[in-house]
Amino acid sequence: MLRRTPSLFKPFPILETERLILRRLQQTDLRDVFEYASNENISRQVLWDAHQSLRESQRFLDYTFERYRRGEMAPFAIEHKTDRKMIGTIDFAWWERGNGTVEIGFALSEKYWGLGLIPEAARAMHQFAFEKMGVTRIEARCFAENSQSIRVLEKMGMTYEGTLRQRLLVKGERRNVHMYSILHQEWKQQEQIY
Ligand SMILES: CC(C)(COP(=O)(O)OP(=O)(O)OC[C@H]1O[C@@H](n2cnc3c(N)ncnc32)[C@H](O)[C@@H]1OP(=O)(O)O)[C@@H](O)C(=O)NCCC(=O)NCCS
Repeated sequence: MLRRTPSLFKPFPILETERLILRRLQQTDLRDVFEYASNENISRQVLWDAHQSLRESQRFLDYTFERYRRGEMAPFAIEHKTDRKMIGTIDFAWWERGNGTVEIGFALSEKYWGLGLIPEAARAMHQFAFEKMGVTRIEARCFAENSQSIRVLEKMGMTYEGTLRQRLLVKGERRNVHMYSILHQEWKQQEQIY
């Protein structure tokens, strides 16, 4: 009999931090998704285009719901506990199981910038990746001029490894990309500090 390996993503995990709940996206998040995903201050720092309509946000939700249904890795919604609002997403863009490596990515509603919420969410994601997914290395990439993201990656204890010159052609523009990473043993040492 064919036995399937149980998926780490079915049921989809729920991670909790002091101020946040990281959970699956829900249909009731539609307007909150549109609120941050339609903001060009956010879309200019990521690979996707700003959403122009609720319909585009719905397409993103439908695609993500299908991934949840299949037990695939998919974005976590970031819910602000006291505001009871979905304020962004954080995810692993890909997972190379053979190499024990994942890439982390995130986007946060502009109203919530500067409160240290992504570093807080990312710490929970690091713990999940190292302890549950069993990875050895977490990577993050950002555009070379994205100083906010660079600051976040530094706060997350990630190490700058270099600049990948003209690595991506995004929205018609060649972009230099900074590569950051954190290794399992480095994260374990940090955990003793927190
Ligand atoms: C990058 C991003 C996720 C940061 O999340 P965050 O929770 O605001 O992070 P922090 O609160 O730790 O702030 C990081 C830095 O942003 C800067 N910052 C804070 N508030 C800001 C504001 N209102 N406007 C501009 N920059 C601000 C500060 O330099 C801060 O560093 P500091 O705490 O040492 O002063 C968020 O800005 C974002 O969603 N940006 C657009 C999408 C994006 O860049 N995604 C990452 C792609 S790799």
